[in-house]
Amino acid sequence: MSKRIEVNDLDVYYGKFKAVEGVTLSIEPRSVTAFIGPSGCGKSTFIRTLNRMHEVIPGAHVDGEVLIDGDNLYAPGVDPVLVRRQIGMVFQRPNPFPTMSIRENVLAGVKLNNRRISRSDADDLVEGSLKGANLWNEVRDRLDRPGSGLSGGQQQRLCIARAIAVQPDIILMDEPCSALDPISTLAIEDLIEEMKKDYTIVIVTHNMQQASRVSDRTAFFNIAGTGKPGKLIEYDDTTTMFSNPSVQATEDYVSGRFG
Ligand SMILES: Nc1ncnc2c1ncn2[C@@H]1O[C@H](COP(=O)(O)OP(=O)(O)OP(=O)(O)O)[C@@H](O)[C@H]1O
Ligand SMILES: [Mg+2]
Repeated sequence: MSKRIEVNDLDVYYGKFKAVEGVTLSIEPRSVTAFIGPSGCGKSTFIRTLNRMHEVIPGAHVDGEVLIDGDNLYAPGVDPVLVRRQIGMVFQRPNPFPTMSIRENVLAGVKLNNRRISRSDADDLVEGSLKGANLWNEVRDRLDRPGSGLSGGQQQRLCIARAIAVQPDIILMDEPCSALDPISTLAIEDLIEEMKKDYTIVIVTHNMQQASRVSDRTAFFNIAGTGKPGKLIEYDDTTTMFSNPSVQATEDYVSGRFG
């Protein structure tokens, strides 16, 4: 289940534009890692390379290496579609399938995987995933109603349920709480804490309190200027990053002095 991520000297391009340069880091299983940094520094670009999601953009490509439990994610013959199923992603805006019921939304990824499952196994999976996403009690009586009828925070937890239903190795989250109210945000943060037992979790956030609350390790990215590539500036235990970082730019950023 939970897997280790190792990135070696990764550059990420959109056509000729190098958006991210020279990232090397490793992420332990059963941990939460936060990516922070100013807008445009490449956080979304980089996180999308961890499940080959960036390749849906024409011209986007990488140089360098991403290893998942030692296996090269970009080796010839690796199917990016399969990769995206084993390494789930939750986006900034909750994106349940609007015409599908809550139940169908949870099962959507599993159906895509062409797994044939019995009605009762499907019921168990729906219940287990919704419980895992801390949503079960709120929706158990309306599983056949549209997912789009839920509140924003509930929709985001539905998307998390959909992501965990396929039993992924890793869950990537790109600003999963930025469209949510503080209560829903705390609900998601509690959930991340809980999910850490089973998954490797990476979360992009602009919220410094959130990074310090939920993550074990924090990676700070920055750019030298417009048109320059984003770089990983510092990566360490979250407590160190927020209390005693080694680089001045990290200190300035986490204390709100720029960005
Ligand atoms: N689809 C794309 N095509 C071309 N360039 C892109 C694309 N997406 C992002 N970029 C560029 O790559 C750089 C990094 O963008 P990215 O979205 O990764 O930043 P970010 O750190 O996630 O910012 P934010 O905090 O605002 O979400 C920016 O210069 C951006 O304009
Ligand atoms: Mg982004």
